[in-house]
Amino acid sequence: MEIRKLIDKLNENKTLGKDEWIYLFGNYTDEDRAYAADTARKLSLEKFENKIFIRGIVEFSNICKNDCLYCGIRRSNSCAQRYRLDEDDIMECCAEGYETGYRTFVLQSGEDGAWGAERLAKLVCRIKESYPDCAVTLSVGELEYDEYKLLRDAGADRYLLRHETANKEHYGKLHPAEMSFEHRMNCLRQLKELGYQTGAGIMVGSPFQTHECLADDMLFFADFKPQMIGIGPFLPHKDTPFRGEPKGSYELTLMLLSLCRIMLPNLLLPATTALGTINPRGREEGVLAGANVVMPNLSPTAVRKKYMLYDNKICTEDSTTECRHCLQARMKSIGYEVSISRGDYSE
Ligand code: 5AD
Ligand code: FES
Repeated sequence: MEIRKLIDKLNENKTLGKDEWIYLFGNYTDEDRAYAADTARKLSLEKFENKIFIRGIVEFSNICKNDCLYCGIRRSNSCAQRYRLDEDDIMECCAEGYETGYRTFVLQSGEDGAWGAERLAKLVCRIKESYPDCAVTLSVGELEYDEYKLLRDAGADRYLLRHETANKEHYGKLHPAEMSFEHRMNCLRQLKELGYQTGAGIMVGSPFQTHECLADDMLFFADFKPQMIGIGPFLPHKDTPFRGEPKGSYELTLMLLSLCRIMLPNLLLPATTALGTINPRGREEGVLAGANVVMPNLSPTAVRKKYMLYDNKICTEDSTTECRHCLQARMKSIGYEVSISRGDYSE
C-alpha cells in the first residue's frame, strides 16, 4: 500500500488500524513526509488561518517527588539545583507576560509536595481575578480527582499531562516501578470529565520506543481525542540513567505533528521547545508541518537554567521580552502571525 494513500485515508476516516500505523512508520519517505506536512498545513490554515497561539509558561518549581528515568529534574538527580517560586514571584511573571501580550498562563512544575492543590487553587483564583480575560493552564502532574476538581472550580481552564506512552510495557521501562500507567491514564480521563481542555503527549524516540508503541499512541489519540497534544523529541540529560541514549528523530517528530493534525484537525498542537532545541528551525518547521501553538518561557531568567528537563534547552539565557520578539520574528519569517487571544479549543 502506498503511504500517500494511507495519509489520504487518515484524512478521510480520521483513524487507521494498528497494522496500518506500524506499516506507515516503517516505510514513509521524505516525499511522504512532505505530503503529510502539506496536507496538515492546509488543514491548520483552513481552521486557524495564519495565526499562531502563544502560551507563556511559568516553571514555578523544579522540585519533584517522581523519578522518571528520562527527566533532568527527577528526584535522584542530586546535581539539580532546586528552586521554588512563591505566589508573588509567579504573579510578577504573569504581569510581565500580560504586558508582553500573553493571554494564556501555563503553570508548570515538578510534583512538588509543598505546592499542594489548595495552595495552587488560591493562586489560580488570584490570577483569574487579576486577569479575567486570560486562560490558566496547569501542568503539575498526577493528582487525585478531588484536587483536579478543586483546581477546576478555582478557574483553571486547561491541563497538560503527557501520557508519555500508551504502551504499558514501554511505560514500565521509562518509569520506576512505583509509578503506574493506569493511574496516569486515569488522571487524563478525569481531567477531561471535569471539563478541562486536556493535553496528552509523548516524546519521540524515547528509549525502547518501537513503531508499535507509536501506533498505540496514535490509537490512543484517536480514541481519547485530547484537545491538545504535546510532542517533542526525546533529548538525553547528562545526569539521568538515559544519558547515553540517542536523541529522538527530528524528522519523525515533524511527521507525527502532521499526522496528529490530519487526524484531529481542530487540535491545539505546539511546536515544542524540545523541537526548537534539536533543530534551530524546529519551531518554524513544526508550524509548517501543522503545529499552531508556541509556548515560550515566562520564568525569571535567574531560574531558567535550573528547569533543565534535557541538555541544551533553548531560551535559558533570554528574557520574556526577548523570547516574545524572537518568536514574533520567527513566525513572520514563515508568513505566520502571533495571535493575541486566549486561543481556546473549538470544534
Ligand atoms: N527529553 C525530552 N522531553 C522530556 N520531557 C521530560 N524529560 C525529557 C527529555 N529528556 C518531557 C516529558 C514531560 C514534559 C514536561 O517534558 O514528556 O511530560
Ligand atoms: Fe526564546 Fe527565541 S524564543 S530566544
